[in-house]
Amino acid sequence: MGIRVCLAGATGWAGSELARGIAATSDLALVSAVSRTHAGRDLGDVLGDRRLSCPVYASAPEALSRPCHVLVEFTAPDSANANILAALEHGAHVVVGTSGLTDAEYAEIDGVARARGLGVLACGNFALTAVLMQKFAEMAARLIPQWEILDYARDDKPDAPSGTAREVAARLARIRPPEPTVPVAQTVGERAARGAIVSGSQIHSVRLPGFVLSTEIIFGLPEQKLTIRHEAGSSARPYVDGALLAIRRASTLVGVHRGLDTVLDI
Ligand SMILES: NC(=O)c1ccc[n+]([C@@H]2O[C@H](COP(=O)([O-])OP(=O)(O)OC[C@H]3O[C@@H](n4cnc5c(N)ncnc54)[C@H](OP(=O)(O)O)[C@@H]3O)[C@@H](O)[C@H]2O)c1
Repeated sequence: MGIRVCLAGATGWAGSELARGIAATSDLALVSAVSRTHAGRDLGDVLGDRRLSCPVYASAPEALSRPCHVLVEFTAPDSANANILAALEHGAHVVVGTSGLTDAEYAEIDGVARARGLGVLACGNFALTAVLMQKFAEMAARLIPQWEILDYARDDKPDAPSGTAREVAARLARIRPPEPTVPVAQTVGERAARGAIVSGSQIHSVRLPGFVLSTEIIFGLPEQKLTIRHEAGSSARPYVDGALLAIRRASTLVGVHRGLDTVLDI
């Protein structure tokens, strides 16, 4: 049967597209799905595609009663952490697409995963163009000590900053800490106007109708600046290929690994 997958969030915008992507492969098989609204139904009936047939459960622990190799977490920030830990408890590797988990949560997950010899591949953005944006930003941070991150998303996105912005900040922190001319703590006026400090970087999150998801890193030097910007489209299709690759590679890892490039040759 190949790699058996439990898909948490299988009825959502991203999860349903990934379910169709999994069904189109010959080496991956959906064995269970998680959605509170559609619990007790068959995923194929819910999504109108018989190739996606598998039972839907209300929670990850229930879905994990059907043995799987990999749980994919594509629900919401407030349920993701518990789902990931439940998967590790059941001996499954995990692919995390959900945004909003903190560095502290990932540190705890890393401890559990390493103790059990399991892999967790967490990708704030599975799209190839977003992965390249992260790589280009890392190259720039090696040479330019000052940057800030802007994160634009639709008005109903509940979490901030986006997973992509958090991941960029975490990556740039590994290159060097940014060196603002005026330390943010010494801001005169409204300190919050300088944005949130995440992994040492200033992040400014805009939530407005009309946006899908864009991430921008501005690097500044005297008399010059460089803007690296990623723009997502409105379909979830660009995330599918990266997520499929992550599912195939998760079992080769131990502990938490952040970013799709950890399993790409770039
Ligand atoms: N890494 C990437 O490349 C990438 C790409 C796209 C999206 N994302 C992230 O993925 C997450 C999901 O995004 P989306 O747009 O697909 O959301 P969405 O359309 O709201 O779908 C959420 C899915 O999770 C289920 N769900 C939500 N809360 C749950 C809970 N407490 N228990 C069980 N199931 C729950 C929902 O079903 P029920 O409501 O029926 O429970 C639904 O199936 C977000 O964090 C988003 O930022 C990441």
